[in-house]
Amino acid sequence: MLILGIESSCDETGLALYDTAHGLLAHALHSQVDMHEAYGGVVPELASRDHIRRVLPLLRQCLTEAQRQVSDLDAIAVTQGPGLAGALLVGSSVAHALGFALGKPVIGIHHLEGHLLSPLLSADAPAFPFVALLVSGGHTQLMRVNQVGDYELLGETLDDAAGEAFDKTAKLLGLGYPGGPALAQLATQSQASANTYTLPRPMLHSKDLNFSFSGLKTAVSTLVKHHSPLTQEQRADIACAFEEAMVDVLAGKCVQSLAHTGLQRLVVAGGVSANRKLRARLDHAAQTQGFTVCYPPAALCTDNGAMIAFAAAMRLQSPVAGEKTERGAAEDSAAYGFTIKPRWDLSELTPSMRRDMSAKRARSKTQGAPRTGKK
Ligand code: KG4
Ligand code: ZN
Repeated sequence: MLILGIESSCDETGLALYDTAHGLLAHALHSQVDMHEAYGGVVPELASRDHIRRVLPLLRQCLTEAQRQVSDLDAIAVTQGPGLAGALLVGSSVAHALGFALGKPVIGIHHLEGHLLSPLLSADAPAFPFVALLVSGGHTQLMRVNQVGDYELLGETLDDAAGEAFDKTAKLLGLGYPGGPALAQLATQSQASANTYTLPRPMLHSKDLNFSFSGLKTAVSTLVKHHSPLTQEQRADIACAFEEAMVDVLAGKCVQSLAHTGLQRLVVAGGVSANRKLRARLDHAAQTQGFTVCYPPAALCTDNGAMIAFAAAMRLQSPVAGEKTERGAAEDSAAYGFTIKPRWDLSELTPSMRRDMSAKRARSKTQGAPRTGKK
């Protein structure tokens, strides 16, 4: 089965062709980073217009690379939400127009489910169930992934997402957008011993699996004001201290989640999963504490069409989600219509019975601390 994936929820236009028998055949991406950089963040209207310009040329590029025709497609997968409404509409309009013209089903995919399953595109993909750390520009969540379409929220950020904290801190240090990769690069220039600047590790020892990053960003802001104007050396040292604090908290909570669930398989996905220091720390913890950790292939950490096509393939093949996915696509096509979901909670994908159980478990968990077995 050949599936086209289309991602256009924010500032990347991503298209890909995934074959259920032969794997990923092609993927093509256009990042709008250069266009938005002048504004210090994503400008939604500019994002939508650029998706319109890019989507068909990228589709042709994928078809050429995979040596396939548009008529070879068996299904079209598209990010249905969450994301910027105008940007989502571009991808969905193209997907449904193609589906209508070809008489093929269109499958709306949750962007975070795409990220969540993307590590399974790696050669060392783990079996279900596993714990997933989802760290993107808009989300920071720890999840127990029982199988495709069955996700239990273990903890999440109470304020800023990890990527957002990287971006805001990078801005304080005079770096451009997106800040994560730039900050990580600056941190490599630091010659400082670990404690030149000490930043807080928010909620590392809270008795739950939640995060909070806004205080960390405020601590950097105070440091920057106190030492201004900063030398290049100080900027690098502060970047390094920030990255260390982030990595301590993210890796620490992953280990706590594994102890809490009793699972020994971890996957890390979303833009921040590209961070080298985070990977090194988790790899080390995995080795010393006897769990496995898996990341998406490097090129598929940030937004892309491959994870959307792959998530659709996984859903269609899933005993839990398959029938519901096919029914949704059939209803849309019978109605000649489609919807986008700019706001969409991932827990809505999980069957209602499981959601009730998760909610009950979450309620009882708030009354007791998670087990912290392996530290
Ligand atoms: O998943 P993603 O591409 O988009 C969203 O769905 O949000 O994640 C983008 C985020 C940005 O905040 C970016 O700064 C961060 O991922 N990011 C990184 C790195 N690469 C991307 N953060 C830290 N280190 C990196 N190497
Ligand atoms: Zn994303």
